[in-house]
Amino acid sequence: MAKSSPVFTCQTCGAVHRKWAGRCDACGAWNSIVEETPLSSGPKALGSKGRTIALSDLATEEAAPPRTSSGIDELDRVLGGGLVPASAILVGGDPGIGKSTLLLQAAASFANGGVKCLYISGEEAAAQVRMRAQRLGLGQAPVALGAETNLRDILTTLDAERPALAIIDSIQTMWLDNVESAPGSVAQVRASAHELVTFAKRRGVAIVIVGHVTKEGQIAGPRVVEHMVDTVLYFEGERGHQFRILRAVKNRFGPADEIGVFEMTGGGLAQVANPSALFLSDRDQPAPGSAVFAGIEGTRPVLTEIQALVSPSPLGTPRRTVVGLDSGRLSTILAVLEARCGIPFAGLDVFLNVAGGMRVSEPAADLAVAAALVSAREDVAIPPDMVLFGEISLSGALRPVAQTESRLKEASKLGFSQAIAPTRSKVGQDEGMRVRQMPDLAAFVGEMFGAG
Ligand code: TYD
Ligand code: MG
Repeated sequence: MAKSSPVFTCQTCGAVHRKWAGRCDACGAWNSIVEETPLSSGPKALGSKGRTIALSDLATEEAAPPRTSSGIDELDRVLGGGLVPASAILVGGDPGIGKSTLLLQAAASFANGGVKCLYISGEEAAAQVRMRAQRLGLGQAPVALGAETNLRDILTTLDAERPALAIIDSIQTMWLDNVESAPGSVAQVRASAHELVTFAKRRGVAIVIVGHVTKEGQIAGPRVVEHMVDTVLYFEGERGHQFRILRAVKNRFGPADEIGVFEMTGGGLAQVANPSALFLSDRDQPAPGSAVFAGIEGTRPVLTEIQALVSPSPLGTPRRTVVGLDSGRLSTILAVLEARCGIPFAGLDVFLNVAGGMRVSEPAADLAVAAALVSAREDVAIPPDMVLFGEISLSGALRPVAQTESRLKEASKLGFSQAIAPTRSKVGQDEGMRVRQMPDLAAFVGEMFGAG
């Protein structure tokens, strides 16, 4: 086949030029044109014959992928029941949140379970990683450790060693010598991740890629890699809190939205098997502005405390500060309280917080948020043995939410004895919970606070 002539493509707008120029005619960008080798496929290049690919029907029986347990239950759950061989997993998170610690512990745990495991650090020297491992009491685990950033050398090593699991920490430090840009640039991160994912599939090595979340700027974030990998996990948490949540955002081999809860301690990350108890443990006396939300995270019910503070504002535009919830959701709930229940928040600063550094994204939290807000404003405490859940519509009606029963069961298990739920929720006969069903927010506010 004749070699196709080179093309020059503007990296900013994608315009294709016949020859190189300093400035792109199409978009006016300077120094954005680079030579690219055209793909030797496409209809024209296809003059010669390809091969026919094997097709199958959807009904073909497929065995579930075999899984290897990490020995860390919270991690296994997020992976969808264990590590799938030859899969590519991205673990993203803010710098310093504990990704390296988590993966070092996971590597040690896998290795102790007989899984051949390689940990490649591009950020820390081998001695540093070793010191950390010893401090965490993992010094004896048979993990093979490497400190390297040259991806070609790493892949050669992986090919020779053929581990079952390789951890690459982090993708932003890796570089390929055939890509002409600095490590951490979009081009390097994308090309390196592509090489790693291809290698994982071809050689049957599960690869975990660590990616730092970056606030804009020179370094490409893990989003660049998300579409290439099978599983995307984010490690989240508030810096000031000890809780860390590992959340599956995408999983080709299991449910997304599943969470694993950990606690950062002096001796590394510890699993938290019962997160509800932990997120609620700081509650002492019933206080105005606090409401307990019975939520669902992935497949697991989790109770969280929503806290609100409302105070007269010295500012022309009162403050609306939210931690752990969507601020748009707060505005909507404030508007519904004002319009449908006659409870105005004008001239008042509003602070809303989910206790323990948890993030809540379920609309089912609406009712607990509204309850915390009104409780704070009216200075009336909600009974400490009460949980709430329900979505609030713009009309002020309460909409039923999924999995009512598991929410109630979890609440009952933790010693709660009453619940407020939307009418039409599927409440079973059970558990010594007194469940009151409310049609709308105004009815709830009227009954609970005598307001509105
Ligand atoms: P690290 O895993 O290095 O974060 P990342 O790889 O996401 O950048 O975690 C660093 C933080 O974790 C550091 O600020 C100290 C804290 N930490 C502990 O509190 N206890 C420990 O046992 C370890 C190893 C770290
Ligand atoms: Mg790190």
